[in-house]
Amino acid sequence: MKTIIFIFILITIITSTPSTCSDALTMQECTSIINGIHECIWYENQCQFKTCQNSQIPCDGQVYQGELCSNTKQGCQSVKQCSDIDNQESCSILKPQGIECYWDQSCIIKNCSHNTKSNCKLTNDEKCIYQNQKCSSINSCSDIFEKSSCLVSQIQGLTCIWMNDRCITNSCKAILTKEECFQSVRNSEKCFFTQNKDDTNYCLSCSQLTEQCQCNQYKLFGCEWQIDSCQEVSCNTYLNEKQCADDKECIWYKPMNKCLTIEEALNNDRACDIYISSQILNICTLLILIILW
Ligand SMILES: *[C@@H]1O[C@H](CO)[C@@H](O)[C@H](O)[C@H]1NC(C)=O
Repeated sequence: MKTIIFIFILITIITSTPSTCSDALTMQECTSIINGIHECIWYENQCQFKTCQNSQIPCDGQVYQGELCSNTKQGCQSVKQCSDIDNQESCSILKPQGIECYWDQSCIIKNCSHNTKSNCKLTNDEKCIYQNQKCSSINSCSDIFEKSSCLVSQIQGLTCIWMNDRCITNSCKAILTKEECFQSVRNSEKCFFTQNKDDTNYCLSCSQLTEQCQCNQYKLFGCEWQIDSCQEVSCNTYLNEKQCADDKECIWYKPMNKCLTIEEALNNDRACDIYISSQILNICTLLILIILW
């Protein structure tokens, strides 16, 4: 009985409302279609999918059929790039494919040099810093030569620090005390203090050693010469259980048959727990549905 009622309701829903725009024969039917994905519009005596081209101005920022609309001199049009926009206002509002535009007699792709001091920040994935009275594009910490800009640079994904009147990447080398050095990790490498007999010691990490003999000297801290650079050997370079077990930092992770750091192994266990509980939840939901039916 329940099944029959259900099927009856389903058929009623399906047959009583037009489900795509072209099924609607009157303006009223056309505007009442809401199928959750497409809007319809009554245009040239037909019910059509709403698009930028058949919409009315103002339409800046509307999206129909996956296309971004802009007001233009020809009415509402879809735009794919900054240069498709023909007026200053739309140019400053719209971001075709996520790209910021800038109006300079025509609509062009914005870059650092178009920013003022107050909005000199990440622009279309370019890092921008205000120095020498203009907003300019930079790649690394060493491109920055003012202290105040150096210190705010991490907002844009650089980690710079100011040392000896220069802006430098915040690597192990920038750490001054032995204690802090041994507790620090920079760019996912552990820092360690050099072991020279005199007092010229400083903080560094494996990848900063450029000579093989120096690299070998710091085996104790996990450095190993590989092809042409010094690398920190991490657990996943051990391919068997025995080698893995010999390193106190590592653990042989049975589910993957791999050598992982203790932290990686714990994270994997957690992900596994979440997967199992979501599967249990799914089965319970299914059972409840079957019972209720
Ligand atoms: C920024 O755009 C201008 C055009 O307005 C261009 O002349 C300049 O080369 C661009 N700068 C960069 C860094 O791409």
